[in-house]
Amino acid sequence: MIAVTAASGNLGRLVVSSLLKKAPASEIVAAARNTAKISDLSSQGVAVREADYSKPDTLARALAGVDKLLLISGSEVGRRIEQHKNVIAAAQKAGVKLLLYTSLLHCDTSPLALREEHLQTENAVRASGIPFAILRNSWYNENYLNAIAQAAKLGVHYGCAGEGRISAAARADYADAVVAVLTSQENQGGKTYELAGDEGFTLAQFAAEIARHSGKPVRYENLSEADYKAVLVKAGLPEPVAGFFAGTDTGISKGALYDGSRQLHQLIGRPTTPISATVAKVLG
Ligand SMILES: NC(=O)c1ccc[n+]([C@@H]2O[C@H](COP(=O)([O-])OP(=O)(O)OC[C@H]3O[C@@H](n4cnc5c(N)ncnc54)[C@H](OP(=O)(O)O)[C@@H]3O)[C@@H](O)[C@H]2O)c1
Repeated sequence: MIAVTAASGNLGRLVVSSLLKKAPASEIVAAARNTAKISDLSSQGVAVREADYSKPDTLARALAGVDKLLLISGSEVGRRIEQHKNVIAAAQKAGVKLLLYTSLLHCDTSPLALREEHLQTENAVRASGIPFAILRNSWYNENYLNAIAQAAKLGVHYGCAGEGRISAAARADYADAVVAVLTSQENQGGKTYELAGDEGFTLAQFAAEIARHSGKPVRYENLSEADYKAVLVKAGLPEPVAGFFAGTDTGISKGALYDGSRQLHQLIGRPTTPISATVAKVLG
């Protein structure tokens, strides 16, 4: 049995649908804290089970009989170390034979604030004694959906990422990579993958791509971190969220989301989805 946690999320859904192309539905467990969100999967023959990272009793039940487990990092920032440790403990008790975790690109050296929870989770995974594979994901192209529409409207994209390159790829690419590892005939135990898009882009190139697809001028304006944060606050973002985005851009300027090793391409056996495809999709 292969179980996927957070199956109600965007990535989890894509993993389950990609997995259904490679494994019988009767061997797949889709686990989510709100099973109503994934009830449609039952009709396809997938076992739907409750799994709330904050409720260990649900995790024990969800992982019964599971051989391979994908732990998708949760979305409750600040609570995730304890939550992920709950899942790892349940996996130990259930006798899981391969544990995959979706981490952050270059987690060991990343300057991003997100790093800490991923690093502590990775450490717990490594210490668990369960054979593991770590999938360190770069950004999703989909993180920029709103920014694309906004920049096309305003004619400008603000940021403070300088010349930093962003090796983003589509969520579906990362989902296929998970499935490649879960269904691999090779021993995956102990592997750490740095997964990123084939072609990185700077925010100036991003703006140029939006201009190309919209047929209107769009420029990138590089600001200081403080000024970019102020722009985001003025646009209505709560101060901590604005600070998070501005800090992330500063991390990007230091290369936090760039990786040129093309491990994602190799795992999925095809080029990753370029940002131009995402821009084209948003702008029609
Ligand atoms: N690489 C990137 O660019 C990037 C961007 C954003 C996020 N991420 C990370 O990657 C993960 C997957 O991405 P995504 O796009 O699928 O995010 P998403 O659509 O926001 O989904 C988050 C998933 O986490 C689940 N979750 C949150 N807290 C949970 C808990 N206590 N117990 C069980 N499940 C819980 C959510 O359940 P509900 O449906 O019940 O809310 C949902 O299924 C995110 O959770 C985040 O850690 C990565």
